[in-house]
Amino acid sequence: MQTLRVELGDRSYPIFIGQNLLDAGLMKPYIKGKQVLVVTNETVAPLYLDRLLASLGDGYKTDAVILPDGEEFKTLEYLNQIFDGLLEKRHNRTTTLIALGGGVVGDMTGFAAAAYQRGVEFIQVPTTLLSQVDSSVGGKTGVNHPRGKNMIGAFHQPRCVVIDTEVLNTLPDQELSAGMAEVIKYGLIYDAEFLRFLELNMTQLMQRNPALLAQAIYRSCEIKAEVVAQDERESGIRALLNLGHTFGHAIEADQGYGNWLHGEAVGAGTMMAADLSCRLGWITADDVQRVKNLLLAAGLPVAPPENMSAERFKELMSVDKKVLDGQLRLVLLKHLGMAIVTDQFDAALLDQTLQAGAGLGQCC
Ligand code: NAD
Ligand code: GLY
Repeated sequence: MQTLRVELGDRSYPIFIGQNLLDAGLMKPYIKGKQVLVVTNETVAPLYLDRLLASLGDGYKTDAVILPDGEEFKTLEYLNQIFDGLLEKRHNRTTTLIALGGGVVGDMTGFAAAAYQRGVEFIQVPTTLLSQVDSSVGGKTGVNHPRGKNMIGAFHQPRCVVIDTEVLNTLPDQELSAGMAEVIKYGLIYDAEFLRFLELNMTQLMQRNPALLAQAIYRSCEIKAEVVAQDERESGIRALLNLGHTFGHAIEADQGYGNWLHGEAVGAGTMMAADLSCRLGWITADDVQRVKNLLLAAGLPVAPPENMSAERFKELMSVDKKVLDGQLRLVLLKHLGMAIVTDQFDAALLDQTLQAGAGLGQCC
């Protein structure tokens, strides 16, 4: 087992990464009261809920809320099921919530923990690649609104994160690809050497080579922990973690939540960010091809849906959380391994990227 720490003063916490950690009793020291509510979904519950509950032993009063499975249920309405469970079972302020599932369960559970009785503790047990490398770390929690992705939420850090790499064996291939979009993101924004590792090993990673997957998860979490420790509330460097997300969130909202997986939309969005970075003269056409090859090797889409017009993109991107004083800011690539957040781009070049995405022009 490997351990990382997210350094946030008295809210610092460990990330445990290894095989068969679900049963390892790692969570117990982080449960301060006697009540535990596990939140999971209809897909993950039959696979892992009993094991997790058994690992807690008899010392706690444990309850579970099983949500329907899907991004379309990441709403205030379904969040209420968690509050219903907590209140019906009389959970008090010392209760601990455990999120057992992917990013949807993790984001909803974290938000419920942030709001229940003005804040209780929670633990992340992420079970998708995406949630293991990204959403379980860093304390962003929330739900979607029909007008925008993750628009209602709170920052609320977990007490610990337990990443059992074994659970990825039951993950569908398409979900593995979606998680790989976020892994690739770390290489592109932060670490050219990690990017080369991914280029060299993507075939084996997609074949679920356990040692390589553990390496990729560890480095991704390490980068995320470093970034979050520097900028928990996203007033600076943390925004870099949104490479491809402004375009991607627009795709998700346009297509209907759940019809494009979040990671797939991020994949296509990353390609659009690379295209615009190339039009700005920051990266070369060869660099863009490298990004495309890597995304394709990870089984990800490299273009937005053809029916999405430039106007529609702009309408949806205007509600992005990075918009400041009406000015759209984007994460773009200065070179492969280094990104910046900027509003300094020619609007005509953005139009060209969006037109090319809609099949109405040449890619860079
Ligand atoms: P998800 O939670 O919908 O999980 C994907 C699918 O895999 C679901 O059907 C789920 O039931 C299933 N599943 C989960 N674990 C499984 C396992 N071990 N075996 C078999 N099936 C399993 O999607 P996701 O990709 O994990 O997360 C996407 C969400 O995360 C989005 O809502 C996105 O906004 C959010 N997100 C949040 C942050 C953050 O910082 N909070 C960062 C990135 C993404
Ligand atoms: N996934 C982006 C962030 O955590 O900031």
